This record gives sequence, C-alpha cells and structure tokens, in this order.
Amino acid sequence: MSNIALPFKRYTITSALPYANGPLHIGHLAGAYIPADIYVRFLRLNNKDVVYVCGSDEHGAAITIKAKKEGTTPQAIIDKYHAQIKQSFEQFGISFDIYHRTSEKIHHELSQEFFLNLYEKGEFIEQVTEQYYDEVYHQFLADRYITGTCPNCKSDGAYGDQCEKCGTSLNPIDLINPVSTLSGKPPVLRETKHWYLPLDKYQPWLEEWLLEGKKDVLKPNVYGQCRSWLKSGLQPRSMTRDLDWGVDVPLEEAKGKKLYVWLDAPIGYISATKQWALDTDNDWEKYWKKQNDPADDACLIHFIGKDNIVFHCITFPSILHAHGEYILPENVPANEFLNLEGDKLSTSRNHAVWLHEYLDEFPGKQDELRYVLTSILPETSDSEFTWKDFQARVNNELVAIFGNFVNRVLVLSHKYFGGKVMEANRLTDTDRFIFSELERYPKHIAGSLTQYRFREALAQFMNVARLGNKYLADSEPWKLIKTDEERVKSVLNVSLQIAANLAIMAQPFLPHTAQRMFGMLNLDTVDWQQAGRYDLLPTGHQLGEAQLLFEKITDEQVDVQLAKLSKAKETNMQVAKAVPEAKGNVSFEEFVRMDIRAGKILDAEKVPKTKKLLKLTIDTGLDRRTVVSGIAEYFVPEEIVGRQVAILVNLEPREIKGIVSQGMILMAEDKDGRLDFVTPQTEVQPGSVIR
Ligand code: 2FM
Ligand code: ZN
Repeated sequence: MSNIALPFKRYTITSALPYANGPLHIGHLAGAYIPADIYVRFLRLNNKDVVYVCGSDEHGAAITIKAKKEGTTPQAIIDKYHAQIKQSFEQFGISFDIYHRTSEKIHHELSQEFFLNLYEKGEFIEQVTEQYYDEVYHQFLADRYITGTCPNCKSDGAYGDQCEKCGTSLNPIDLINPVSTLSGKPPVLRETKHWYLPLDKYQPWLEEWLLEGKKDVLKPNVYGQCRSWLKSGLQPRSMTRDLDWGVDVPLEEAKGKKLYVWLDAPIGYISATKQWALDTDNDWEKYWKKQNDPADDACLIHFIGKDNIVFHCITFPSILHAHGEYILPENVPANEFLNLEGDKLSTSRNHAVWLHEYLDEFPGKQDELRYVLTSILPETSDSEFTWKDFQARVNNELVAIFGNFVNRVLVLSHKYFGGKVMEANRLTDTDRFIFSELERYPKHIAGSLTQYRFREALAQFMNVARLGNKYLADSEPWKLIKTDEERVKSVLNVSLQIAANLAIMAQPFLPHTAQRMFGMLNLDTVDWQQAGRYDLLPTGHQLGEAQLLFEKITDEQVDVQLAKLSKAKETNMQVAKAVPEAKGNVSFEEFVRMDIRAGKILDAEKVPKTKKLLKLTIDTGLDRRTVVSGIAEYFVPEEIVGRQVAILVNLEPREIKGIVSQGMILMAEDKDGRLDFVTPQTEVQPGSVIR
C-alpha cells in the first residue's frame, strides 16, 4: 500500500538550517523538525533510500548582530550555539543523517561554485545602485541591519530583505521610514555594485513550474503565498552584500563582498549532503542532480516554517533552475507559527520553552513533548502551546490510554502466563473486528503522513491505543481469569498483537517510546510493511519486562513552568522600565559643546518647603557656583559636603524656587529612581574636563 503513496525510489529531505545565534525553542521543533523527522522515519520504515540533512546557518546579519550584542566574535557565537543546537536535536531524536555547518570549507567552496556557475552563464545583472548606508558605523545596511515599515502589510520591524509578518521578500529601498539597527538613525544613500538574480526573468518559468505544476501538490497556505507574490510581480534580488562575515564573492572585482546569506544557506543542504556522502561512501549527486532517466531523480522535500516560504519556493528553485543540473523541490510543506500561552513565542522577550531547559527539567520526557507538539502542529494555521494542555494531553492520552493499555497487557501476561504469548484459539467477532481495524489503521496513518497531515496521523495512532484500551477494559481478563482461562489467553494474545502494532506505528512519532516497547515485547524493530498483522508475536514468544511508558505531569510541574514565564514577563517589564529607550544620536559636534567638569561640593542645604531639592555650592575649578539639584530624598546635606561630582557647567542658568541654578550635577538613576553621583574614581582637581 505505502508503495503507492511513496512513488520515488530516493528521497532528499531537508529541514531549515537554524541560525546559530541562539538556542532552539518549541516553535522551532513544531515548525520544521518534528514533521520532517516523522516523515523521514516513516520513509525509512518503508525501506526508502533517504537522506535527511540539516545544519547550522552560520552567516548573515543574524550572527553578526548577535555577536555585537554579546560583545564577542561571530565565530564564538556560532561555535557556542551550533554545539547547543546540535545537542538539543540529538536528544529529541531528530534523526538527521548529518547536522552540518555553513562555516565549513566544503560549503564555502560549493556556494562559490554555484555563484560562478550562474555568473559564467551571464545570469546575474551587475548593477551599481544607491544603497542605504550608516554613516556612523560606516556600513552598508541590508537584511537585518535595516528595519522599517513593510510596504506590503504596513507592520513595523520589517527587515531589509523580508517582512517576517507577511513573508514578503523586500529590498531595503522598499522599506517605509528605514532605520539602521546599528545606530538607530535613518540611513543615507551611497553607491555600491552588486550582482542581482533576475527573478523577473524567471517569473514565466516559475508560474508554470509552481503555479501550474504544483497547484494540487502544495499545501494551501504555501500555494497562496506564492501565488500572491507572483501576482505582484517579481523583482531582481541582490545575491551579494557589503559585509565582512560570510562566504566571499569569488570575483576579483568583488573583493571584500560576501554572498547573500539566502544564496548560501539553502546550498547548505547540498554541501551537507556532500559531506555526508564523503563520510559514508555515498554518491551525493544521486540525491541532488538530475539523473539520465528522470524516473531515477530523487524526490526533494523542504520542511520549513512559513517565514521561509519565499526562499524555498521562489529564490532557491530559481537558482537551481538557472544552474540546470539540479532537481527541484517536489514539495515544501511549510508550517505556520506556534504561539505560547496566548502570546507569540519571542526570543528577545524570553517568552519561550527552550529545548535545553525542557531537557533538564523533564529528563527522559522527550517523547511527551514530541507527542504534544505533533498533536498541535500549526499545519494549516497558527496554533498554541499551553502547559495545561501539555499536562492534559500527557495525562489523559499518553498515560491514561496508551501507557495504561500497554502496561496492563504486559503485567497481566506476566501475572497469568509467566510472560508468554498464549495461543488465541477462542476468537470472537470482537476479536475479528479488532484484526480488521489493525489492518486498516496503518494504511490510514500512511495516507495522512504522505499528505503531510501529521496531526491527523497521530490522532489515528492514538485511536489504535484507544481501541486496545477499550478492548481490554471491556473483556475484563482480570475477572475472566477465574472462570475462563482459555478466553483470557485469546484476549491477551489479541491485546499483545495490538501492542506490537502500536510499537511499529509509534516509531515515526515517539521513537524513544517505540524502542522501549520493542524491548518490553522482546521484538526486533519491525518495518511499516509488517504493521496490520496480528501474528507479530507468535504463540510461545517470551515477553520482556513490563515498564511504565509514561508518568503523569503534576500540577506543581505546570506551576513551575507558568511561574517561569510570568517571571520572564515581569523581568521584561522591569527591563523596559529600567532601561529607557535609546535616544537618537547626537553628532560629535553637538557632544563636544557640552562642557562637563569635575567639581567638589563645598556646601549643601535643603531648599525650604521642598522635598526633593538641595541647594549646592560647587567648586567647579572655574568658579564657585550655586546649583539646585533634585537629590534631597537620597542624600543628607552634611554627608555630601566634600564629594566630587560631574557638573555640566554650560547649561543655561535657570531659576528654581527663587534660586538661580547654574549648571547640572550628573547623576545615575536606577530603575527605582534611586540616584547616585557620577564621580571620577580618584580625586581629581576641580575643573578637570570630563569627556
Ligand atoms: O530562518 C532561518 O532561521 C534561516 N536560518 C533558515 C535557513 S533555511 C535554508 F535555506 F538554509
Ligand atoms: Zn509585511
């Protein structure tokens, strides 16, 4: 059956390369990794020739901006997060054949080869144009270095190359009210040369290949986005950047320029496959290049999140098409976004369930998260993860139905028959109905999986567990054993065949659990073709030890997680309060007009009838002057006499409560409004310049 739904001999499956600029959270898993892993495991169980590749995306502004934020180098950032991400994937059982990195030499070389191939064919438009430039940081601004209002959906915070809200791909020049993310200033225009991919030229081909050819193949959310972009007309896109981090543009005249990260990143799928082939003595070209007989071409499927659709459906296929030797994606089953507790997942606001933290806090419960995320995958629209729902699904479904059924069958088999599978010699109509259901479900589940309907597939799988649980509860072997041992043998045999089928069908979804079940059933791993049989465990077969598959999630565990999210929210609010928004830049000339000096407090007294004001007499080195300062709530006048201060001496005099104040004392103010003097660390002469 599954051969009909899986017509290709060979499959090349990719999951989006995550930027190595931070840890992974549940949104990542639900977007591009869990669905792909289920699909790949299913292919392997059907004995398909499949390579599943992924790796860290280590170029682009996502990395350099993070390095700047953490005060470190891009290399340090990618090394740190690549290792962490790789480990999280491994622990969740995401079964890549290789998890590679785009900083590897083999990747740089292949990306350059691609660029040169297109360059030599004359595909690129070379153009000197005016591009946005940050005069403070002396840098051209592209991609995440520039933000503004999206011309398409009008939301703020769109990047120079894409609006992540509506998915539209952009040029910086399209942004409304652009601002440099480096200096916060509006940029200026400067000339620079770049190499553009003529997407407008490929538009007719894309319309045919994608809009015509993939109408019935792509998910509606993916197809709809593509159609609307093509409808609004594609524009040439620059494939090079004025940056100092990334793959060098392999042209003498482009020294110092780098390839656009969205040119090199998808080529990362191919370089990862090349490395895997080198490591395993395989032929990578079979998985990527057109074969002499098109019937031998591999089936390429990209699993991604919805913000990556344009690059996988339009840009990368155009590059592959322009190159000519490569296969094109068969499908791009993109998922929508996952939300968390009523709000968008957000790295910057720490509103997330981080995978490395989950692994620490719920050790050994990877499959529980895989299960819940698969149940709520944002396949057709955004969906939501809540801890209460997580608890309910684990407790009411995994524990109460699936785990309970498997445990009871095993325990009873041990109790009554020493862990041996007994002959089913007294079959009833109910048993025969169970067998027909067992035959039916693997086909159903396979049908859902091949159509990328993972939620539906998992629900069907749970129906098998439900069927088993109900069968056992209705048959009541614990009562029957007193009166009809023969019938109990049959009931347990049938139940064990259900459990064995569950073990087979659990493999794509719950790989760790499936392995434990095979251990408990003392059965070798079985492929999908065997599912549906009811003689998987022959009479006389000795079972392994019974173990509990799942444990309940307690209210306390849920409360801890909810408290963590509330704390993050609170911290954000405090940070927002504590750190006022950055002000716009001032020019150096404006800054040097401020005359700030070290001064000494000679006298201090309260200003009558005020709570906050002190009248200070300051030795500024230039003169002795009076300054009225709002610090009375924090300092006792006598105690600050003799202290050094920093004073802005050329502030226009102002009259405050009848006293002429000549200058301003510089104070540091914390989030609660507490003040402290800004003073030199050692005693300096009054009048010393502060700059
Ligand atoms: O959006 C992202 O996180 C990108 N790093 C995805 C890249 S996918 C592929 F093309 F490499
Ligand atoms: Zn938009």
